Amino acid sequence: MKKKKRKLFAEIADLHRGAGEIPRCPYFGSCGGCLFQDIPYQGQLLLKRDYLNGIFDGLLSVDEVRPSGPYCYRNRMDMVTAFGKMGLRKPGSYKHVVDIESCAIMQERSNDLMKQVRPLIAGVEDYDYLVHSGYLRYVVFRQAAFTGQCMVNFVVAADDGRIDAVASETARMADSVSVILSAGLADLSFGPVLRDVKAGCIAEEFDGVRFRIAPNSFFQSNSAVALSMYRRIRECVKGRVLDLYSGVGAISLFVAPAAETVTGVEEVSEAVSMAGHNRDDNGRENVSFVCADVRAYLKEAAPECDTLILDPPRSGMHPKVIKRINEMRPERIIYMSCNPAAFRLELDSLEGYRVEFFEAYDMFPQTPHVETLALLERK
Ligand SMILES: C[S@@+](CC[C@H](N)C(=O)[O-])C[C@H]1O[C@@H](n2cnc3c(N)ncnc32)[C@H](O)[C@@H]1O
Repeated sequence: MKKKKRKLFAEIADLHRGAGEIPRCPYFGSCGGCLFQDIPYQGQLLLKRDYLNGIFDGLLSVDEVRPSGPYCYRNRMDMVTAFGKMGLRKPGSYKHVVDIESCAIMQERSNDLMKQVRPLIAGVEDYDYLVHSGYLRYVVFRQAAFTGQCMVNFVVAADDGRIDAVASETARMADSVSVILSAGLADLSFGPVLRDVKAGCIAEEFDGVRFRIAPNSFFQSNSAVALSMYRRIRECVKGRVLDLYSGVGAISLFVAPAAETVTGVEEVSEAVSMAGHNRDDNGRENVSFVCADVRAYLKEAAPECDTLILDPPRSGMHPKVIKRINEMRPERIIYMSCNPAAFRLELDSLEGYRVEFFEAYDMFPQTPHVETLALLERK
């Protein structure tokens, strides 16, 4: 099934390549970061529209995918440091890293920081993830688009302080710098924070609502697109709101003025702690956060809500979560998804809802990914 979908996507992509577009980035083709720079941006939007309409096969459809600024939009890039290089992996090749001086989809200040960090890490041992030996695994660059604040995280395999001088030097240029431990065999760019060398968070601001973002907490990749989606979500919210997979509380706090109460549920404790600060910073007294796995939370609690907001990770929701939602029967469900195929399957399992609207947003230009938003009302 997955193979079939990939083939369908590749075929539609070829149709839209047409006369072609000159890629802006010199690494295009050798770097796996973006795959669509050779397709004109309007063609990318049509390609994603056709892909979505193929997946939903008459059940739902979109007339358009709402555009984004096509370059310099990404809030976060995880640069691998291995084999004497700092950059991204080759398309389809886990073993090869492409050395990248600058990235066309990353925001400008992060690109400047990457240039400044490169000579600093030249003398630091990197990490060979094929044989699991070495020290520096990733340098993560994060930027809040509306405030311009930048974070740099050094992800290391051991807590021996070898990165500390580099981190202190970086702290002169970035707003937040942390050292993160990733000591296991899994190729992870997150883990326990060993040291916040500076600040330990950056702030983003959407329409006057301020969010602190910590090194390990999720935040949407494209602030301008996320803001349009949050505004749309706020229009649909009524009564008691349950926001599942709430991250640093961004949606919960943004929609709170339109709600009676909001409860956000998130499993990453660092994100929940930020969410608490964010609630206090924004004076949102009708909002509370719970640190829990969503499945366990729904099993234990019997939450009553009028509006259920779902924004699960790319892997989608556990079938038992959907079963529980069917028992809860909220009046309306607002479903934000970065994985349309998972959303399609989950939609089939939700009982007794009609889709009021289904919209698509280009959260990830130059890549095959697309974000969708649906409002479901109980029949
Ligand atoms: C796509 S993000 C959405 C975050 C938030 N709604 C926002 O707009 O910033 C998904 C979030 O779900 C969290 N998460 C993933 N699996 C979870 C689970 N089983 N239970 C609770 N939270 C989970 C992740 O840590 C992440 O913060």
